[in-house]
Amino acid sequence: MSKVYLCTAIPYVNGDPHIGHAMDYLLADTYARYRRTRGDEVRLQVGTDEHGNKVYSSAQKNGLSVEAYSTENSQKFQDFIKKLDISYTDIIRTTDAEHVRRCQEIWKQLKPHIYAADYDGWYCEGCESFVTQKEYDENGGICPDHQKPYQRLTEKNYYLRMDDFRDTIRSKIEADEMLILPEFRKQEILRLLEDTPDISISRPRKQLSWGVPVPDDDSQVMYVWVDALSNYITVLEYPDKDISDWWPATAQFVGKDILRFHAITWPAILLGLGLDLPRKIVSHGHVLSDGQKMSKSIGNVINPMEVLERHGLDAFRYYFLRHVDTFTDSDFTWEKFDEAYNNELANDLGNLVQRLATLCHKNSIAGFSVAGDPDSTYCTLMDKYEFSKAFDYVWKQVQQLNKDIDLAKPWELAKNGEIDKVKAVLSTLVSDLLKVAQLLETFLPETAGKIKAIFATGTIIPPSQPLFPKA
Ligand code: MSP
Repeated sequence: MSKVYLCTAIPYVNGDPHIGHAMDYLLADTYARYRRTRGDEVRLQVGTDEHGNKVYSSAQKNGLSVEAYSTENSQKFQDFIKKLDISYTDIIRTTDAEHVRRCQEIWKQLKPHIYAADYDGWYCEGCESFVTQKEYDENGGICPDHQKPYQRLTEKNYYLRMDDFRDTIRSKIEADEMLILPEFRKQEILRLLEDTPDISISRPRKQLSWGVPVPDDDSQVMYVWVDALSNYITVLEYPDKDISDWWPATAQFVGKDILRFHAITWPAILLGLGLDLPRKIVSHGHVLSDGQKMSKSIGNVINPMEVLERHGLDAFRYYFLRHVDTFTDSDFTWEKFDEAYNNELANDLGNLVQRLATLCHKNSIAGFSVAGDPDSTYCTLMDKYEFSKAFDYVWKQVQQLNKDIDLAKPWELAKNGEIDKVKAVLSTLVSDLLKVAQLLETFLPETAGKIKAIFATGTIIPPSQPLFPKA
């Protein structure tokens, strides 16, 4: 049995959750459930990122104190995480007093690598990111993600000396000691690492009041990313506790837009603290809405609560884990979602369960148990974090079972009185379905539980309502 620690990016609380926010949670949760089925002990962290100017300005626009605003929005993310049935064990808000205090301890430990200097350059508040002149020129002075002009900053900052860490980070990435998935993102990071200057890690308090105060310098507040990234270890109570049981993290799940912070800034902080780097960083693509980036101005932001209400939780999990590719951008449209629900969940799986349960009931077949080792192809894909491929693989088995029933025609065998053959055929089909249910447990826990409850508990009674009633 191994100890597995999984981390998810903590969203800014400057608005409501949208469907894109589900990705970190779903991927981490799927992997967590997988490792638990393999007998491992898993910790899964989630939380909210509450400091910084982005959150502060939103609170002002909404006419609320930043404290009240953060609390209200953090709650929305917490509710969302619960609605998605994310099997987390640890939850953190970056405004928690203990987190703030621990960040200050972390800062003190980093001091040998910190120096003060004037910053004269660019910043994007949307990304909460310092921007190099090269990036500024490449993007024509406008942030491609937020479509807003970069701000010019001229101010005192504290810096973390990259030269202390760059070679180590490069060699750990190259040797896959910190494995970056997918491979093409790893190559992007290796290129970016060479151009990364010393990292600005503070802002003057008069420019940024909503943040963690820098120890021993009242005029400065920590740059929001330093405070946010630290959550992955402060939630384990670092530096108050020895975290070696859980750190380094087995895997961190992040969107492609914030990979650079996790693959460069975060390793620099960790090395400065004398801690190991995470074993893996899994960087997923973005969910698009009707082929476009979701944005309030285009008006194509999809509210996840509506998606959840449409066909229930497992339909949500199904779509985002199977039809959203694990590593590249994928599209959400209501049409695609409804099609997947009706053609796949209702037709492929719902019908299969209903037909098989009815046949077993009619022919008094019962007494199955869930058994056997998990399928090796499935495990290989899960071990490589290829979740959408693993799900495709499982779904092919669902479709194959439908073909198997059609081919074996147990209803004809029953009509001809060949009861032994009926029993043999149905027993094989049910055992196969239970094996599939075991694999589905990581993706669709509720549905897998229902299938087991129908087939693996003595008498088989068809559900009064199909698992996925047609919409
Ligand atoms: N607060 C930072 C993360 C700090 S982690 C120490 C942040 N927040 S965010 O709210 O902008 O994004 C949170 C997560 O959601 C990130 O992993 C981001 O990539 C992901 N997504 C945001 N929009 C997304 C899509 N449209 N699709 C998929 N994931 C997306 O960045």
